[in-house]
Amino acid sequence: MVMPTVVTDRFSTLDYTDYTNNPVFLKRAAINNGFLGEHQTGDDDIVMNNNEGGEVGPSPKELIGAALRERVESIDHEFCEPGDEDTFFVADLGEVYRQHLRWKLNLPRVRPFYAVKCNPDDKLIQLLAALGTGFDCASKAEIEQVLRMGVDPSRIIYAQPCKTNSYVRYVANKGVRQMTFDNADELRKIARLFPEAELYLRILTDDSSSLCRLSLKFGASLDSTDGLLALAQELGLNVVGVSFHVGSGASDPMAFLKAVQDAHFVFQQAAGYGFNLKTLDVGGGFCADNTFEAMAGVLRAALDDYFPAHSGINIIAEPGRYYASAAYTLACNVIARRTIEDVPSAAASVVSGDVNGGSDAGVPSYMLYVNDGLYGNFSSIMFDHQHPVAKVLRAGGQTMYNTSAAEALDSAMSQTLSPSSSTSSLTSASEAGIGGVEYSIWGPTCDGIDRITDSIRFGVTLDVGDWLYFEDMGAYTKCSATTFNGFSNEHDVIYVCSEPGAKALLGMI
Ligand SMILES: Cc1ncc(COP(=O)(O)O)c(C=O)c1O
Repeated sequence: MVMPTVVTDRFSTLDYTDYTNNPVFLKRAAINNGFLGEHQTGDDDIVMNNNEGGEVGPSPKELIGAALRERVESIDHEFCEPGDEDTFFVADLGEVYRQHLRWKLNLPRVRPFYAVKCNPDDKLIQLLAALGTGFDCASKAEIEQVLRMGVDPSRIIYAQPCKTNSYVRYVANKGVRQMTFDNADELRKIARLFPEAELYLRILTDDSSSLCRLSLKFGASLDSTDGLLALAQELGLNVVGVSFHVGSGASDPMAFLKAVQDAHFVFQQAAGYGFNLKTLDVGGGFCADNTFEAMAGVLRAALDDYFPAHSGINIIAEPGRYYASAAYTLACNVIARRTIEDVPSAAASVVSGDVNGGSDAGVPSYMLYVNDGLYGNFSSIMFDHQHPVAKVLRAGGQTMYNTSAAEALDSAMSQTLSPSSSTSSLTSASEAGIGGVEYSIWGPTCDGIDRITDSIRFGVTLDVGDWLYFEDMGAYTKCSATTFNGFSNEHDVIYVCSEPGAKALLGMI
């Protein structure tokens, strides 16, 4: 039985104590004093709720914790229906809202077009649509989804340089005009199927600092842009802008500077062919962690230098990960456990670090099998090079969310490895005398690569029926999950909202 999706209807003010290292919160007073009001009109309106004089409500963590607790404490794995103990998400839409404020504060000239591919959750899209963002879509299904939400076609960019013919005909029919290209064949395709399209020439970037390199596949080199612009002119096409992407999960802010410089060069080239480019699309590459401010700072300065406000050029971006990642927490149930003495020697050595197999003398180690893995929502380990960190949600009848007991004993020693990683350093935790109980964590499928965590130590002994949770699971997780081995990739999402403004926009008040 699949339990229904729940909207947990709670009201809270933000607990700033969780976010003291984030400048956006320090400047929140400035925002509430009208900063956002200057930029927002019509459906862009952000409803701010200062809660002045109001009671301080639960913090984001308290809201998430309450939703997790309510769900896991209602499930008795000895008696529940098949699937009741399935993995599930708790999504705090207030986090998405705060990320939007942080974006407006750091990149006030840049209008975000959320990259739907990152997490196409309807509620997330609904909130972003209400906040006035645009949408970067990669396929007909994504475009359909966004249009279904009532978003105007002018707020969509079909940001896929190599498009399916029938999809081009579809968008022509729906009035989605903005799209990217980076090669001559695509230009000829567009000339045939949708000559009125508004085209962005996507240029190559240095994406070597990113987690997921995109320039291996897409982007016109500066050697080829002149020829492409000449062809676009010859075909009578409408080039309106330049786009780039510095790679998903980028870490070098200088990649933005170079890309903006290159884009500026192409703007000038385009003018030589009579194109009056109006928009620069700076793509994605933004992370939700505290690298964002540095990235945004370099980008902002580069834009001010090369595309100053008085140039009248519109600036858009395609952030995905930035909005989605931190908003989603995943809870997984321990469906099986194997003590280390029981395992074949090769698997035993993975957990214990003992090349001969077996656990440290007298100290049991365990392989834990949970009901989600690399073929499911942990597809991010495989495709997005992530290292989700397990925490204990419930063990021995105690719910431990956000307590010290939930944490790994030494998270620096705990390792989440990609499937190809070696096991060479696994003795380090036990050698260092960290103590506790050592676990490896595995997904539910038959495949040996389905390993979430290679080695982690907790102060508690986990058993079947207990729960783990993983934070920052909103980006490139559910969207790339499969049903391999017959496990569902449709998991419940319990929505909470730690921002009154977001609640108001979503009609949750
Ligand atoms: C064209 C395009 N735009 C935006 C994004 C989202 O970027 P990010 O993952 O850095 O948020 C991607 C990610 O692959 C992309 O391919």
